[in-house]
Amino acid sequence: MSAAFLTGGTGYLGSYVVADLCERGAFDKIYLMSRGGERGGVDKLWRAMQLHWDAERFYAELPKLVLVEGDLGAPGLGLSERVRGELARECDSVLHVAASLNRKSDKACFNANLRGTLSVIKLVRELAEARGGLRRFGYVSTTAVSGTREHQTVTEAESIDWDLSDYDPYARTKKFAEHMIRELVGDLPIVILRPPTVMGDSRRPETTQFDMVRFYTWMVDAPAVPIHPDTRLDFVPADFVGSAIAELFTKPTLRWDCYHLSAGEGSKTAREHEQVFQAAGIRTPFFVPGLNSPALALSGQLAGAPRGMVSLAASLMKVFLPYFSNDVVFDNTRVTTELGRGPTPFTEYGLALYRWAKSARFEYPYTPTPAPRAAARATSPRAAE
Ligand SMILES: NC(=O)c1ccc[n+]([C@@H]2O[C@H](COP(=O)([O-])OP(=O)(O)OC[C@H]3O[C@@H](n4cnc5c(N)ncnc54)[C@H](OP(=O)(O)O)[C@@H]3O)[C@@H](O)[C@H]2O)c1
Repeated sequence: MSAAFLTGGTGYLGSYVVADLCERGAFDKIYLMSRGGERGGVDKLWRAMQLHWDAERFYAELPKLVLVEGDLGAPGLGLSERVRGELARECDSVLHVAASLNRKSDKACFNANLRGTLSVIKLVRELAEARGGLRRFGYVSTTAVSGTREHQTVTEAESIDWDLSDYDPYARTKKFAEHMIRELVGDLPIVILRPPTVMGDSRRPETTQFDMVRFYTWMVDAPAVPIHPDTRLDFVPADFVGSAIAELFTKPTLRWDCYHLSAGEGSKTAREHEQVFQAAGIRTPFFVPGLNSPALALSGQLAGAPRGMVSLAASLMKVFLPYFSNDVVFDNTRVTTELGRGPTPFTEYGLALYRWAKSARFEYPYTPTPAPRAAARATSPRAAE
């Protein structure tokens, strides 16, 4: 009997990981911590999993997915004594995916990514002590931990540089969370998994995560963009990231304890992105790299404007423009060596994502949680295709 404890399984990347772990039959049971608890957790889980499964599959997998009430911000993760005892008896692996991605909020990032990760670390230590060891503790981090850089290819070994500034509270707290893990449970078998910018799915146009996609489509549709055409864009699809996390988390032995789940030197330039849209007859913007600093300064001022399209556009520009213009890519030799595969280039599926996201008005057509007995008949929009 093998079981794992997962945080963040009801989120965007977490749903890919859960789908992949189930596909692999990696565990007999997967405990999913959710703020919704058992009842609300099923609705949250269906919302996340309908991108992957129809209702029949959802209810077929549900018995092995054990939803437990928990919150990164609560003392001891808010897990009951009964649940902690069950986890100590059954779980040989822990995967911490949950985080706050709210780059504008110091408070949200501090509470979820630092206090929350410290509570997960304490749980990992408790489980390891109770069981006499742990098969693996996986932490989903981000390549953003490498700080503010320009025109570089960054390897895992050189990515943490305490002399560099961080882009935002999100990057800063994820970086210190990695540090806590190394300092406090570095004696256990840990693996740190760092996705770069994740956008869309190489197998289908639908997505449920839109901020970055919305920013990308705006950039394609703009008359001019403050980017140099030779800028490399390290974008990867969620299906690659989800399957890489699942495989690296469950592989019996690993060569390294940290992996960039990135496109690395295979990243395409802004010019190569442009060519895809031009070939499809879509008018593309002028590249005006000289506008980069003024655009960032203006977006910083307008991000605080009253809620509306102006503040949304400015906020997205402020947060994401650096990732679109810094020409930093993350070496992926480790992950491609370990798994024997890399991500599908964004230029092969980005056009379909752009078209679908615009036609869907940046909203996934969610269906409500189907009743279990209707599950055999009901299907998600995806499964109905
Ligand atoms: N998406 C990307 O482009 C990207 C890139 C690099 C790294 N990452 C990393 O990938 C991981 C997952 O990101 P994502 O894009 O899947 O984010 P997401 O869709 O926002 O999901 C976040 C998950 O964290 C959970 N969570 C947040 N705050 C929590 C709290 N206080 N207590 C318990 N659970 C909480 C959410 O649960 P609820 O359902 O209860 O809200 C949700 O399941 C994060 O660690 C992130 O740093 C993502």
